[in-house]
Amino acid sequence: MVDPPNAAPPFFADGGPALYAWMRNARDNTPVMFDEASQTWKVYRYEDAHRVLSDWQVFSNDMCRIMPEHGFTRGNLSTMDPPEHKQLRGVIAQGFTPRALADLAPRIERIVGELLDAVEDRTEIDITRDLSYQLPLNVIAEVIGVPRGDRGVLYRTADAQLALTCENPADPDFVGGVQKAMGELQSYLGQELVPARRRDPQDDLVSKLATASLDDRSLDDEEVVNFTVLLLLAGHLTTMSLLGNMMLTLSEHPGQLAELRADRSLVPGAVEEVLRYRPPVPEGGRVTNVEVELAGATIPADRLVLVSLISANRDEREFPDPDRFDIHRPANPQLAFTTGIHYCLGAHLARLEAKIALNAVLDRYTDLTFTGMQWYESYSLCNPKRLTFEVRRP
Ligand code: HEM
Repeated sequence: MVDPPNAAPPFFADGGPALYAWMRNARDNTPVMFDEASQTWKVYRYEDAHRVLSDWQVFSNDMCRIMPEHGFTRGNLSTMDPPEHKQLRGVIAQGFTPRALADLAPRIERIVGELLDAVEDRTEIDITRDLSYQLPLNVIAEVIGVPRGDRGVLYRTADAQLALTCENPADPDFVGGVQKAMGELQSYLGQELVPARRRDPQDDLVSKLATASLDDRSLDDEEVVNFTVLLLLAGHLTTMSLLGNMMLTLSEHPGQLAELRADRSLVPGAVEEVLRYRPPVPEGGRVTNVEVELAGATIPADRLVLVSLISANRDEREFPDPDRFDIHRPANPQLAFTTGIHYCLGAHLARLEAKIALNAVLDRYTDLTFTGMQWYESYSLCNPKRLTFEVRRP
């Protein structure tokens, strides 16, 4: 029995089935609906999601005009519209193309190797603790140029965010913890790293931002710090979620895991299917510039629209048999990284990390037996908090 679409969506704690059934009902009956509780418009079908995410003239990324307390704006690419967005993205986009990232692959392989070496004496590993929490943080820190000895502040910022649960989004302890950690990160970047790279540029992203010129002006410290914070935040917990979801989903489908072990050319398709099946970021947000009609609903101007990436990726109108996990899916235009001008800048990097991590795990362990898991209890992340496997080595 499926709840009526106007009731609140069920939580993800059972791994999804109740939520997926609720969303199927929403796609069929209320594909675009106003959610009283959050005062936002929700979009559930793939086609509508695609339109909202790609039509930047109607659907803006500038959330700050309806959420002035948002604060973290100047230099934050994800809250900008053209032409500023294009200019700023252009400063570093070249560094995230597949070709540019090929140079990074050996460094990612080295980090994965070090992380797995650290648990080489164990017969049970926790993918979250031992691999997926640490790998993306260290990769994005290397890309940005945060020295190893300074990475404690990055861990503290991530931990503060991971304390989010469905019950506590406005809880003063949680909000205070995040603000304190963000303040520490901003001071570290603004008072130490950015000035150091302005004085002595290196081959890293902070140096690139600190020395870039836009319309014949350079970025000021606040812009460089905010863009760097965005990269750090966007690059860590999302990729952690992809790595955890990948290992979990493959363990649920042992036949496909065996196929991957035997034929590594299937790895890219498997990563893409994990992104469709369990997208790390549940929703993508936009604000309407004008009143707009969408799937028969009229959304007024200046309203927050939240596209459900989970639902769009399971829309049977786009993906045949969408609840089936299938690494051989011939076409997979999944929306985990969204689409359009804000398409995730780190998409290729995240895929590269996932492919390297999966190959390394398959090389190192001849057998992985699932022993337990627990989800983070949050609406904003689909992420295993603990994911343990008993491992066997050759
Ligand atoms: C599996 C991992 C990841 C997922 C699922 C993911 C997902 C997303 C999503 C949903 C957005 C919002 C796009 C929109 O507003 O339309 C986004 C934007 C962004 N992501 Fe990622 N992301 C991942 C990894 C990364 C990594 C590793 C980086 C590091 C560079 C990164 C950097 C960014 C940036 C800078 C933006 C803003 C782009 C813009 O507004 O133009 N992401 N990502």
